[in-house]
Amino acid sequence: MVHTAARSMVVETLGDDAWQSILAEAQLNGELFISGQNYSDEVTFALIGAIAKVSGIEPENLLRLFGEYWIRYAAQSPYGTMFRIGGNRLDTFLSNLNRMHASIHSTMPASRMPSFEMLRQEGNRIDMLYTSDREGLTPFVEGLLKGLMTHFGETGHVSHSLTHEGDVFSLNCETASSALPGAA
Ligand code: HEM
Repeated sequence: MVHTAARSMVVETLGDDAWQSILAEAQLNGELFISGQNYSDEVTFALIGAIAKVSGIEPENLLRLFGEYWIRYAAQSPYGTMFRIGGNRLDTFLSNLNRMHASIHSTMPASRMPSFEMLRQEGNRIDMLYTSDREGLTPFVEGLLKGLMTHFGETGHVSHSLTHEGDVFSLNCETASSALPGAA
């Protein structure tokens, strides 16, 4: 699904020719990508590298933009129901994220799921601890969380820091919408 979303983002913003150049650059000629199928991480990282090279966007920035795009893409996909089941508020959704991944994992045993633990919620800030056996995805996670904020009608920013607790992402909401407690 990540690969089909990447193709969609590239074709929408840079056109089909750019996508063909990216496949050639990543040595993935003729690859169609099927949602729900497992691909090795090498394919994903080759694709990210090739998109960065062809688009001229710096890889970290690209991962951030792609994270935001992925949320919009997934919410409109057949998996969109997951977004509705997960809750209609940002904090509820975030606390259900592990359960959601666990239920997807039961249908895709080869998948390697991350963990997202809500550490604290203070005022308009939510701190999430991210744990994964993959490296180099923190800008992607930043984009995903920003995308989720937008999805739930929030504006604000997401920051990342490596603390004694681990990889902590702080979601700083500017709007006091119904996505957070205490709001009307
Ligand atoms: C429709 C909703 C979602 C579906 C169907 C879904 C599905 C998946 C699957 C199948 C994987 C495992 C990939 C593999 O190892 O093969 C995965 C990994 C991941 N998901 Fe989700 N997910 C969803 C929503 C989210 C959301 C909302 C976030 C936001 C934070 C998120 C963050 C991640 C991250 C960061 C990884 C993996 C990379 C790592 O190892 O850290 N996912 N997801």
